[in-house]
Amino acid sequence: MALNNKNVIILLFVSVLFVPRIPSLHAVANYAKVDEVVQKRAQDALAAAQKAYNPNPEEVTDDFNKQVAEILKGDHQNTTRRQMKEGECLATNPIDSCWRCDPKWATNRKRLADCARGFGHGTTGGQAGEIYIVTDPSDNSPTDPKPGTLRHAVIQEAPLWIIFKNSMVITLQHELMIASNKTIDGRGVEVRIAYGAGLTIQFVQNVIIHGIRIHDIKPASGGMIRDSLAHLGLRTVSDGDAISLFGASNVWIDHVSMAKCSDGLVDAIMGTTALTISNCKFNRHNDVMLLGASDGFGEDSIMQVTVAFNRFGRGCVQRMPRCRYGFVHIVNNDYSQWEKYAIGGSAHPTIISQGNRFKASDDLALKQVTHRDYAAESEWKNWQWRSEGDLFLNGAFFQESGAPLKQSPLTNLNTIQYKPGTFVGSLTRDAGALSCKVNQPC
Ligand SMILES: *[C@@H]1O[C@H](CO)[C@@H](O)[C@H](O)[C@H]1NC(C)=O
Ligand SMILES: *[C@@H]1O[C@H](CO)[C@@H](O)[C@H](O)[C@H]1NC(C)=O
Repeated sequence: MALNNKNVIILLFVSVLFVPRIPSLHAVANYAKVDEVVQKRAQDALAAAQKAYNPNPEEVTDDFNKQVAEILKGDHQNTTRRQMKEGECLATNPIDSCWRCDPKWATNRKRLADCARGFGHGTTGGQAGEIYIVTDPSDNSPTDPKPGTLRHAVIQEAPLWIIFKNSMVITLQHELMIASNKTIDGRGVEVRIAYGAGLTIQFVQNVIIHGIRIHDIKPASGGMIRDSLAHLGLRTVSDGDAISLFGASNVWIDHVSMAKCSDGLVDAIMGTTALTISNCKFNRHNDVMLLGASDGFGEDSIMQVTVAFNRFGRGCVQRMPRCRYGFVHIVNNDYSQWEKYAIGGSAHPTIISQGNRFKASDDLALKQVTHRDYAAESEWKNWQWRSEGDLFLNGAFFQESGAPLKQSPLTNLNTIQYKPGTFVGSLTRDAGALSCKVNQPC
């Protein structure tokens, strides 16, 4: 997210959010010109975000923790990894165990949509629609995409469950503008979105991105891009994010491998909410995950995000995530040797860190997990950033602040007697895109 060119946009969007009037917009949200369609979409997006917002976020975090505990009560009392037989299913977290043990996953693909957990739990993507099979990796026309291409699939009005005929590398010439009610499902083949533009989820609802690899994304030129069957928009240059979310709600990003993009890997901004990012693998990247782009945009307090079972691997520098205003549940992720900090923020976000494994590098200056910007201690000491059940290795430490958790979500789980952070190796062992074989558990 390049902040500099967003100031205008932010000002304009502020007047859209929470204020039911239509401002005269000249440039908003990377549209060079805002027409009635985009204005209407922005207002619908706001209404959807307000509906998706949960006034009691602790309910969601408690429920999530309960489900993790249920799974752990089963086979996996220990971090020791059992020997696995060919074709055996070893789903180790509640999202995966919801679908991965079904050997018929390829004919029951849409069951995946029942498996979202955390704040994005209401996301069904294209479950209500037909299957669309992408057969053509090309991306030659942003205004009139060829049937069979990914771009043609994502602009359709109807819900669609989008899959791929075979393995392919898709180099997008322009950002991919994804419409509401879509699932992109790369299971069974190897799909890479690489060497071109990334994915944009803007002012839309209900999108699942699953089982693909996104890397080496670069800024791409703007111009006229079709963002739905009925609408073309004039876009400015895109930033080079792997996945950019802007005023979106109910989005679930699961088992996606992301690396080496020129801007962020996941940037969720401008009132995006009801988002779950799970089972993803992040590598070799500077600004990994941004949740809120501006301290001046208080409307991001609607933002509610679950970050679970991800692996932040080698070469990740900072922002895992970096948060503003919202409520972020960071649970059972694996952090390995961040190069600046792991979890950061400004503008008093609420950050609940539970059962993560934080392994610091050997550098004595890089032991702290947390990082606060633009605030003196007298101010940030009131921000609620709490750590519970986290495992700290090699001197890592989490600087807590703010009120203790109201009801400790782990309290009712004490009977299970496990140390959550120690399970992270098992919970995240298959993070990133999976290699699923037809007629076998995945
Ligand atoms: C877990 O592993 C340790 C050592 O690896 C072992 O002593 C312990 O009994 C195991 N616990 C369970 C519940 O299997
Ligand atoms: C998405 O699907 C839901 C349910 O079918 C429908 O109510 C909604 O209007 C759709 N959204 C858009 C933007 O088409």
